[in-house]
Amino acid sequence: MRAMKNIVILISGRGSNMEAIVHAAQSEQWPAKIAAVISNRADAPGLRFAAKQGIPTNVVTHQDYPTRDTFDAALQATIDQYQPDLVALAGFMRILTSAFVEHYSGRMLNIHPSLLPSFPGLATHRQALAAGVRVHGATVHFVTPTLDHGPIVEQAAVPVLSNDTEDTLSQRVLAQEHIIYPRAIRLFVEGRLTLENGMVRVLDPA
Ligand code: GRF
Repeated sequence: MRAMKNIVILISGRGSNMEAIVHAAQSEQWPAKIAAVISNRADAPGLRFAAKQGIPTNVVTHQDYPTRDTFDAALQATIDQYQPDLVALAGFMRILTSAFVEHYSGRMLNIHPSLLPSFPGLATHRQALAAGVRVHGATVHFVTPTLDHGPIVEQAAVPVLSNDTEDTLSQRVLAQEHIIYPRAIRLFVEGRLTLENGMVRVLDPA
């Protein structure tokens, strides 16, 4: 096995989680390199940050493909050029086919802005406020074919305050995302995070 692990990060927009991962990889000197940042939208602001860091960027525009299958096949071909050990979905706003997900089984992570299994899907902060929960948060999980349902690696909880709006709540959650996502990826690249029979196992440091 290569000593340096290749990470490919998929984004659709702002890319603040991707930035947090890039910064942590640099400052903590992970045994890994960010091999590429790939977006399904050419106008994703995060692409500029990645390019400035000297990270290869690619755009695979979903509108260019007639079906999910053909889009996912093109995306997979683009990703696999970089021989990824890990694919990290970081605000990647596309539903993925089972074939694509199976191809990266055990080596694809996602960050979701809720305490799963509560509030899968979109508008999680609105869902949390509407449900009246007192705690909300974020989850890093392995990706499986069922949307937002994979084995959980890391979670962080935040309080929901009485005067919260979607905006204030999302900012509080995002600050935690930027902590737990790099932490999970670091475990993975250190070889300490594995899936055994669909359960997450974290090994002690060597
Ligand atoms: C994050 O809240 C992430 O959890 C969700 O979409 C948002 C993306 O933010 N899936 P960013 O692009 O990482 O800034």
